[in-house]
Amino acid sequence: MKSDLSDHSPSQPALLTRRAFTTQSVHALLTFSLIQTLCRRELFAASVNPQMASWLKDVNQLAESLKHQTLDQKVWQTKIETLFRQVDLPELLKFIDFDQIDKRANPPKNGAQSIRFDYPKAEGAPTKLVFGQQIFALRKDRSVVPHGHNNMATAFIILKGEFQGKHYDRLEDEKDHMIIKPTIDRKFTPGECSSVSDYKDNVHWFKALTGPAYIFNLHILDVSPANEKRTGRLYVDPNGEKVAGGRIRARRIDDEEAHRLYG
Ligand SMILES: [Fe+2]
Repeated sequence: MKSDLSDHSPSQPALLTRRAFTTQSVHALLTFSLIQTLCRRELFAASVNPQMASWLKDVNQLAESLKHQTLDQKVWQTKIETLFRQVDLPELLKFIDFDQIDKRANPPKNGAQSIRFDYPKAEGAPTKLVFGQQIFALRKDRSVVPHGHNNMATAFIILKGEFQGKHYDRLEDEKDHMIIKPTIDRKFTPGECSSVSDYKDNVHWFKALTGPAYIFNLHILDVSPANEKRTGRLYVDPNGEKVAGGRIRARRIDDEEAHRLYG
């Protein structure tokens, strides 16, 4: 690599000395920071509980079966919720380095912050994950606003704080409405979980009762290849017209309105 010292010009010795010094200092700082990060990661990886590596492997295998349609979506929901309920929450928090996530979280005044994270490289842990993941961070009284999905399965564990969690079955699609029926409406505390598929509990809405509050989330795309609808969030207003059989005719809304009403 060409060094800044090779730009040396006798006419500007002081400036170049400063530049060289700055460059060297920056390099030294970057190197120190990189070593710190690597040391931290290595220490972190070395301290991984083997049970967590095994748990992640099981979660990934389930996701793989779902993606290859060798597992029914509703069966996947039962199995992933069982795996989620079995996890030792303090160990999961250590595994994802939650203290660091908590430190850098900055939940917005409306809605939720989506935080990306990685797992440590550990023996027995999968090297390639077939699912996406994030952690939602919310202030008190803020929500992951009501929405459904197409061609996607997703599951959650409450990491910290309390939530009012609501799910609905999506029974019918109309041009401007979705016919939904409430299936879950209760308080969720740390360690509790829920899931969504194209067939059950499709619409969800989580409001933080305390803050900051955190949800661990994983999602698997393209679980219904025959479904040509675009994957993504479909926002609805669940406080709609009540129709026969305990159903609700929920108006389809956009992201802005969903966050204005419920964020
Ligand atoms: Fe969702």
